[in-house]
Amino acid sequence: MLLDIARSRRLLFVGGKGGTGKTSVSSGLAMARALDGGRVLLVSTDPAHNLGDIWRTELADEARRVYTAETATVDEAGPGFVDAIEVDPQATIDAHFAIVEAMMRRMLPERTHAAARDHLRTAKTAPGSHESAVLERIAVICEEAMGVYDLVIFDTAPTGHTVHLLSLPERLTGWAESLVANRDRSERFAAAARSLVSPKEETPGPDAQMRRTLLSRRDRFALLRSTIADAGQTGFLITTLAERLPVAETLVLVRQLRELDVDLTGIVVNRLSPADSGEFLAARRALEDEQLRQLHAAVDPLPVAELPLLPGELTGAEAVRQLADLLARETGTGRGGTEAGL
Ligand SMILES: Nc1ncnc2c1ncn2[C@@H]1O[C@H](COP(=O)(O)OP(=O)(O)O)[C@@H](O)[C@H]1O
Ligand SMILES: [Mg+2]
Repeated sequence: MLLDIARSRRLLFVGGKGGTGKTSVSSGLAMARALDGGRVLLVSTDPAHNLGDIWRTELADEARRVYTAETATVDEAGPGFVDAIEVDPQATIDAHFAIVEAMMRRMLPERTHAAARDHLRTAKTAPGSHESAVLERIAVICEEAMGVYDLVIFDTAPTGHTVHLLSLPERLTGWAESLVANRDRSERFAAAARSLVSPKEETPGPDAQMRRTLLSRRDRFALLRSTIADAGQTGFLITTLAERLPVAETLVLVRQLRELDVDLTGIVVNRLSPADSGEFLAARRALEDEQLRQLHAAVDPLPVAELPLLPGELTGAEAVRQLADLLARETGTGRGGTEAGL
C-alpha cells in the first residue's frame, strides 16, 4: 500500500508527533521508491532536523545525493536515487525578508524607511513570518522539482506545526491579494494626483514591478494550495505509536487534515513490540494491540500500516534499506481487528 501510494503521488507529506518515526518512515519510503526506479527528493522541514543523522551525512538547504539504487535492470531514465534537503529556516527567513525589505523601500517614501525597518525586524521574529518563509521555500522546492523528480517527500515538523503550515497558503494568498488591492487604490490615487500636476506624465515606475512581485507570490501560494488539495498529486501520511497518547493525537490530526481538504492517505503505526520474544514484550504487545484496534475502528477504512520495533540503531543506508523493504511489503490492512472487512 505504501509503495503504491509513493508511486501514484508527486508529493507526500509525512507528519505526526515527535519521535514517532517521521524521519525514519520518510527515508525508508524514499529508498523503496528509488529501488523501484523513482527519482526522489526528500525534504526535512522540521527545525529539529535529523534527516542527515539517519543518512549519516551532512545535509544542507540544497539537494545532495544520499542514495543511488543498485538494481539489476536499469531503464533509459537511469537508476532511481534519493536526494535530500534540510530546509534551513534562518536562511529562508533572511532571503525572504531581504526581498520584502527591498519591496518596502521601493513602495514607501524615504522618511518612513527607518520605521519600516524596525517593523520588519519585529516581524522577522514573529512565528507567522517564520512559517510563511518556510512555506515559500516548500512552494519553490515543489516548482523546481517538477520534471526533475518523480516524488517529493516532506519529512515535516511535529503535528500542530504542520497543520498550521498547510493551512497557511490560503491565508497568505488573501494577504497578498489585499496588498495588491491596496496598491491598486493608491496607484489610482497617485495617477489622479499626477494628472492634476502634470497631465502628460505617465511612468510605470516601481509600482508595476511591486504589483508583479506580489502577484507572483500570490500565484505561487495559490498553486501550492491547489496542488496540496489535489488528491491525485498529494498525499499525507501520519506516523504514530500504538500507545494511548500518540493515538489520541493522531485522531485529532486526522480530523484537522480532513477539515483542510488534504488527502490523508494512510497511517503508519511504528515500533510495534514483538509478541514472540518473551513475556515482557508480549504483555506490551497486548496493550498495543488494543490501541491498534481502537485506531482501526476510528479511522476505518483508512489503511493502517505497521512497522515492527527493530533492534539496533536505525542509521546508515543498510538500516534504511531494512525499513524500505518492510514498507514496500506493507499492505496496510494490519492486525487491528477490523481487517476481516477489508
Ligand atoms: N521501527 C523502529 N524500530 C526501532 N527504532 C526506531 C524505529 N523507527 C524509528 N526508530 C527510532 O526512533 C527514534 C525516532 O524516530 P524518528 O524517525 O527520528 O522520529 P521523528 O522524525 O518522528 O522524530 C530514532 O532514534 C529512530 O532511530
Ligand atoms: Mg524527525
